Amino acid sequence: MNINSIISIKLKQILLNLNIKTNTNILLVKATKYIKFGHYQINGIISLANIIKMEPIILAKNIKRELELFYIIDKITITNSNFINIFLKISWLSYNLKKLINSSRLNVNIVQQSRNIVIDYSSPNIAKEMHVGHLRSTIIGDSMVRILKFLGHNIIKINHIGDWGIPFSILITYIEKININISNKLINNIKLLDKLYKRAKRYYDSNINFVNQVSFNLLKLQSGDIFYNRIWCKIVDVTIKNNQHVYNLLNVTLDDIDNIGESFYKNMLSDIVNDLQSKKIAIGKGYLSLVTINNDKINRSGNPVHLVIRKKDGTYLYSTTDIASIKYRYEILKANKIIYYVDSRQKNYFNNIFFIVRAANYVPKSVKLEHHILGMVLNKDNKPFKTREGNTIKLIDLLNESIRRVSIIIKNKYPEINNKKLIRISKILGIGAIKYFDLSKDRSSNYVFDWNKILNLRGNTIIYIQYAYIRINSILKKINIKKYRYYNYYEYYFNTNEEILLIIHILRLEETINNISKYGTPHLLCDYLYNLANLFSNFYENCHILQSNIKIRISRILLLVVTSLTIRTSLDLLGIDIVDMI
Ligand code: ARG
Repeated sequence: MNINSIISIKLKQILLNLNIKTNTNILLVKATKYIKFGHYQINGIISLANIIKMEPIILAKNIKRELELFYIIDKITITNSNFINIFLKISWLSYNLKKLINSSRLNVNIVQQSRNIVIDYSSPNIAKEMHVGHLRSTIIGDSMVRILKFLGHNIIKINHIGDWGIPFSILITYIEKININISNKLINNIKLLDKLYKRAKRYYDSNINFVNQVSFNLLKLQSGDIFYNRIWCKIVDVTIKNNQHVYNLLNVTLDDIDNIGESFYKNMLSDIVNDLQSKKIAIGKGYLSLVTINNDKINRSGNPVHLVIRKKDGTYLYSTTDIASIKYRYEILKANKIIYYVDSRQKNYFNNIFFIVRAANYVPKSVKLEHHILGMVLNKDNKPFKTREGNTIKLIDLLNESIRRVSIIIKNKYPEINNKKLIRISKILGIGAIKYFDLSKDRSSNYVFDWNKILNLRGNTIIYIQYAYIRINSILKKINIKKYRYYNYYEYYFNTNEEILLIIHILRLEETINNISKYGTPHLLCDYLYNLANLFSNFYENCHILQSNIKIRISRILLLVVTSLTIRTSLDLLGIDIVDMI
């Protein structure tokens, strides 16, 4: 249920009855900040009144008169500055609260039109260990998978692993140069492979003959050379297995079947470039194919912007596979929408790719292509997050460090805890702490990685949410909830502001999730959870449970149960696990 849209729909009808047909979107229904202004408010009366040339107070009064008849509304007030404040009927709110308890999805509606949505995320490159730069794409992408699925969309996850370009050829050419064979341990272990790649890259950067050799071998690989393809298979396999280990630890839903990397599109590439040339979108001499992006885009030196999609030597690039993948995702996977969770430095690149596929008519306008940009993770000095020695931080090391730190905190707080439990809980909270902190930041901005903030007991952290959750569970245990097993058959009675604020917030879950699905912004769910935990604390500190009469007691128990369910469901949607008790 979505109170905001229930009121908005009613408001539209009222405006129609009042014969106001244009600019009605100026009126906005919003939840209020303070309960003295009601539960919801309508903004924009003055602007609309000006347009339709009516006194604002007359417009407000007309709306008030009609809205007061709406069965969910208790009373309406108009402020001096012509805001309309709406007070909802408490009986209607408690009726809806009660409905949540019998719904496995907390009464969040499924979308009217289910869409095929491709989500391209994580997408690390082969032969390297995943590093901190992959964190955001992997976990934000994965929580969007869960959220859009929950809303009833058909989601196709794609891990567009980088397995077909120059970096790969650098590695294979180097392997050939130092003459090691496919069963050598340097190739079979991701850590060694990662080191080997770095060595190869240094050599590549300093040796021009090697550079030529690398392009030549890339062509060989891309044209199906058996020897190169065998090494390629091996390295892809070793990397994917290692990444899977990280995904499992992170509780991310990506699996082997979601791996559709760059190489998957290899057989489409030459046709695409030829097609773009015949459509005069791409131009070029010999093999070199350039796409001129569009007339009004110019680079720093004042020339039109180009994107290379086939090099002079005939090899294809990252860009070519991306064009092919969009075509494939539309034609074969029948995508209605493709979303990319990729860092903000690729913004121009994606704009250019989208421009090309539109110009070539590979996808119709109705198919949405969206790059949801991601900011970077930074050190305290606002530089990219690296080790003290300046190396990239491996994701697995970061996760293990978090688990280690959490286990120290737990051990200090609960010295008696047994080891098995300590290990289990530290893992859940250690992973949860990193995921939650990252998800709680607006995806498009950078954030500073700070252990003190990540593991803080106060503030918007998983530790704080977990604390609230355990508190609810222990209250429920203490009052022996089984004794009240008929609690959902009662009439409810709520009368304090603390209760009402908590109820309204709980009922705003659908509104929150719908906003997230529009903009791909899971941090709104963390904000929601943080407010929920705060409202719960206010309620718990101000409203007695056991000392109250049975009617109030039962109502408050219901509220506790629903709060706990809402925390659980929201965290599930973020892909974060918590514990019931310590
Ligand atoms: N492998 C790329 C990188 O590490 C990210 C790929 C993103 N997805 C895409 N379809 N281009 O930067």
